[in-house]
Amino acid sequence: MKKIPVIIDTDPGVDDALALIAAFASDNIDIKLLTSVGGNVALSQTTKNLLHLSELYDPFVPVAKGFFSTSKYKIGDASNVHGELGLGLYKYGKINKKIIEKNAVQAMYDVLKNSDEKITLISLGPQTNIASLLTQYKDASRYIEKIVIMGGSNLGRGNVTDYAEFNIRFDVEAAMTVLNSDTEKIYVPMEMGHTAFFDYGEMEEIKGLNATGLAVFEMSAEYHDQHVSQGVATHDSCAVAFVADSSLFKTKKAKMIIDMSDLVHIGCTVCDYEATNPNIEICTEVDILRFKNYIRNCIVKAEKLKNK
Ligand code: RIB
Ligand code: CA
Repeated sequence: MKKIPVIIDTDPGVDDALALIAAFASDNIDIKLLTSVGGNVALSQTTKNLLHLSELYDPFVPVAKGFFSTSKYKIGDASNVHGELGLGLYKYGKINKKIIEKNAVQAMYDVLKNSDEKITLISLGPQTNIASLLTQYKDASRYIEKIVIMGGSNLGRGNVTDYAEFNIRFDVEAAMTVLNSDTEKIYVPMEMGHTAFFDYGEMEEIKGLNATGLAVFEMSAEYHDQHVSQGVATHDSCAVAFVADSSLFKTKKAKMIIDMSDLVHIGCTVCDYEATNPNIEICTEVDILRFKNYIRNCIVKAEKLKNK
């Protein structure tokens, strides 16, 4: 099977962790590099969480430490949703794996430039690192197949404010830079993760699958998205699932703008689906049943990757 080479930029994060487990377990995804970004919790913690997860499931993939948002429009992190350490009630011990010397932006460019095929970037957090890549290396977009972004809303709503989704709002200048870049961009908006949520009965089933399922259950125990009152939203997993099997989603082309008009609406993603000059593709529907089966299968397969 032809594998899709990817770089995953992430702020683990409860839903990032499940997305990473799915990526590790997906037969057609070849992770070339993992990069941490600040967002859900402090950069030092997202980096530790990323090192732990990759040590467990994919010990040889390089991990590079990224950056924290320098946005002028700062908001707080999401530790109130993901827990102080970012992975809910899940605890882990000593980490032996180390980050590589290069920072995330240098490492991304290095991997892109030295790859014999274009690479898909999967963005699961604020776009701080990816925006820096596109700004510092003017030719970077030449080596990027597409950027699959968990971010925004296809209805102009928000989850961190009434109008803005967290990944966009946490570094709105970075999100704007990526949106305006000459790259192919597919957005997996928060409505997908809200629609394909696991209810608590399904989480109990996942808990019983294996040790990885139990870990996912512990991570998710206190993870509440205000738009999903009866279960666990799957935001970042939807982005990885799109890369693994885009047939799980329906998409539309649209002209997206990011509202910067005032501090109430800042970070709102407004999509014009009738535009004659679309600049993005955005997911509008998800096949819930097939998506959930994909995730369950990944949890089963991921457990077999441990200590291979
Ligand atoms: O709005 C959801 C997004 O913000 C997800 O990526 C979640 O991990 C948080 O980073
Ligand atoms: Ca995330």
